[in-house]
Amino acid sequence: MEESFYYPVLWGVIAALTGALIWVQGNLVFYLKTVSRNAMLAGQCQRQMRYLRVLRLLLAGGAVLLTIGGMAAAFQDYQLHNCRLKAQREAVWPRYDAQVFWTAPDDFLAETDQSAKAIGYGRDLIAHTQDYFGKNGVVRPNSINALNCQNCHLEAGSRVFGNNYFAVESTYPQMRARSGSLETIPKRINDCFERSLNGQALDTTGPEMRAILAYMRWLGTGVPKGAKPKGTGLVEVPFLQRAADPHRGAQVYASKCASCHGPGGQGLPMPESARHYPPLWGERSYNQAAGLFRLSRFAGYVKANMPLGASYDNPQLTDEEAWDVAAFVNAQPRPPHPFLATDWPDVAKKNFDHPFGPYADTFPEKQHKFGPFAPIIAFYKK
Ligand code: HEC
Ligand code: HEC
Repeated sequence: MEESFYYPVLWGVIAALTGALIWVQGNLVFYLKTVSRNAMLAGQCQRQMRYLRVLRLLLAGGAVLLTIGGMAAAFQDYQLHNCRLKAQREAVWPRYDAQVFWTAPDDFLAETDQSAKAIGYGRDLIAHTQDYFGKNGVVRPNSINALNCQNCHLEAGSRVFGNNYFAVESTYPQMRARSGSLETIPKRINDCFERSLNGQALDTTGPEMRAILAYMRWLGTGVPKGAKPKGTGLVEVPFLQRAADPHRGAQVYASKCASCHGPGGQGLPMPESARHYPPLWGERSYNQAAGLFRLSRFAGYVKANMPLGASYDNPQLTDEEAWDVAAFVNAQPRPPHPFLATDWPDVAKKNFDHPFGPYADTFPEKQHKFGPFAPIIAFYKK
């Protein structure tokens, strides 16, 4: 407080003094010139003129000294500011604890980051993807379906068990069996653009990709390399003994989902808002190559997040309801899988609930889609 008062006053005094010195000095120069043009006057006042010249030099020297002093003080001020900022950033820097549910880092760390602007833009791209890439999108219109990243990565990817991004910065690049290659973060982001958003990949060097990367880097603040904080991703819903049942799921859907997502799964406008409840199936939903098309991902997502208001510690669906409604929704029509020919170069590594053959086992496609899954897992353990 005292310094924040002290410095502006100091600046004012230094600037005023320097200005006054330059002004007086300039007047003296003018005066000396005028007098020396008059030969008689100059002859009579030689001594006074000499004093004035010395005074003029002294004043000019004073102005120079004050300017140098002012610059030194400014530099000092800048350093002090940086030092404080560093201390404040350190004070709110998250301390990693593998036992504790991880949450988003303090906003202060984003606002005072070198890439503060990019982080903010990245967050908005995640939350309001439609505004940039949707029907009337300002970056690249009509290049995705009707979803925002945030519809599936809740609270812009910062919610416990809301499919958050806390482990992205810490665990990529990573080998992924789906592509059979080492995947970078931009590649993984574009996976969701092409599958969950059934759209076009982003230019990996463009400002939008760089903003999303900056945002995810900030979200991963304090997470040690390789670590996956508690509460990352989705909950794992215990397997049923039976196959998940789309018919039972239809009843769950009608009573607990249709009011927001629409009786035909097409989504609905939100009352008193320009936003929409997102579609769950149909042309404007995720395609068959998306993560949610795997039953275990869908069940894990809804168990901890749906109907809206549910959470991992206050779920509103039983395990059976979560699996059955997943089976119902994923039995409805949606855009086809665009990458069947290239995904899973090693078929033996397919996820147990990857619903497209061929497989390295003898379980039918239908069982890979709806379960029961325990026998499939047991087969691969052997
Ligand atoms: C329809 C739902 C959906 C939408 C929309 C969606 N995603 Fe995803 N995303 C998923 C699922 C499901 C996973 C994988 C979860 C798993 O395998 O455990 C995932 C995983 C990811 C991952 C990897 C996370 C990790 O820790 O490995 C990133 C990064 C990602 N998504 C980014 C995005 C971005 C960026 C967007 C918007 C352009 C987006 N997603 C939109 C469903 C979605
Ligand atoms: C009160 C309204 C409401 C109800 C009821 C509701 N949802 Fe949602 N659902 C939402 C909203 C809103 C989102 C997007 C969340 C966001 O963007 O923050 C969403 C997102 C989703 C998503 C991911 C986005 C997508 O479109 O694929 C799935 C899957 C989903 N809900 C499934 C369900 C299921 C299954 C049920 C019933 C068990 C259900 N929801 C009930 C409001 C609701």
